[in-house]
Amino acid sequence: MRSTRFLTGITTSGTPHLGNYVGSIRPSVRASLASDVESYYFLADYHALIKIDDPARIQRSTLEIAASWLAAGLDPERVTFYRQSDIPEITELTWLLTCVTGKGVLNRAHAYKAAVDKNMASSQEPDMDVTAGLFMYPVLMGADILMFNAHKVPVGRDQIQHIEMARDMANSFNHRYGEYFVPPQAVIEDSVAVLPGLDGRKMSKSYDNTIPLFASTEQLQKLIAGIVTDSRMPGEPKEVEGSALFQIYQAFASAQETLALRDAYAKGIAWGEAKRILFERIEREISPMRQAYLALMDDPSRIETILLAGAAKARARATPLMAQLRHAVGLRPLVDQSKAVPAKVTKLALPSFKQYREADGQFRFKLVDAQGHLLLQSRGYDSPKQAGQAISVLQRDGAAALQSMAAHFQPLDGDMGAVEAALAMLMAGAHK
Ligand code: TRP
Repeated sequence: MRSTRFLTGITTSGTPHLGNYVGSIRPSVRASLASDVESYYFLADYHALIKIDDPARIQRSTLEIAASWLAAGLDPERVTFYRQSDIPEITELTWLLTCVTGKGVLNRAHAYKAAVDKNMASSQEPDMDVTAGLFMYPVLMGADILMFNAHKVPVGRDQIQHIEMARDMANSFNHRYGEYFVPPQAVIEDSVAVLPGLDGRKMSKSYDNTIPLFASTEQLQKLIAGIVTDSRMPGEPKEVEGSALFQIYQAFASAQETLALRDAYAKGIAWGEAKRILFERIEREISPMRQAYLALMDDPSRIETILLAGAAKARARATPLMAQLRHAVGLRPLVDQSKAVPAKVTKLALPSFKQYREADGQFRFKLVDAQGHLLLQSRGYDSPKQAGQAISVLQRDGAAALQSMAAHFQPLDGDMGAVEAALAMLMAGAHK
């Protein structure tokens, strides 16, 4: 096992605000810098269609969210950052999972149940205005997660049920067809702050109390001036408990800075002064990112390129796994019928490396597909150890290693895509 795979999706239905930054973007970007994790972040635009029927808004939000994550330091070279709708395998997997998911399970999904309960409470048809998309939301989300066999899924508490459903889908599928999926686990970050909004309630689009992450300096100042406080006068001691202003400050400040403001509260700091301190602290963290954000927003083609490269990386995994899954469920070419193995024992044969020594005394290896067709042929190495090391690098890094190692291979006249897919398949196999 190489590393733990983390995966999370961001629905493209709005403009990122400070609450999203503190609760999701900042911790995710930090986590992605750890060397022992493999991170997948994607823009859940299919999910956005369930809530939003304004095409311009979907497109705009996708751009804004992608630009925000990149501006906040997400490194697309280090992580796999992609747009859900660029991965057709996800919708394909959604159908396979639909066929192993109980309808009764979906009836109990919180979001669907809430819609039904609301209709019932007003004596309407239970399913009035409920789309099949809303009903199927958990299956699409299950496909997002299982497509990449993510081990850990960082989410908010409201999403725990969805992760449990994805586990059930993984288990049902595995039970029927063989071990293809890792049942994922939800990761709930209790240490991550839930940011209060302008009115003191949780910062959320639905309360209309947000501060946009990349509001202009003037806008930021104005919004901060509007944070609710009490009527205590300058000089009167103030309480930090229940102070939205203090809590927001805490999410940005160091322990020392927080202590200093706590002290200032006790000494009766004026609200206007506290707001100035908060503004300056947030501005200090956000303004360098704002520059990057504005530059990205000005150049959508750069973001498009990054997302397409991310999709290619993601599909190097999704395509071979999907091929195995199709085979597993019986969506197979008719010609290899006779070779069909009984269900549950089926494991798609994997490509493999073969090491050998030739008459010239040199050591070589080749990569062959499951049928033994040559995919990649190395040049000669002086020792078997060197050849073995080159194989290890390919096994570890897959297609990503091909370019830097190009000089080690015989020129390929074959299909580079097949080589990449074979390496991806080996990596996926190694994780089981
Ligand atoms: N449902 C998630 C949310 O609203 C977004 C999402 C879609 C997601 N697919 C996912 C999160 C897969 C984690 C994993 O927050």
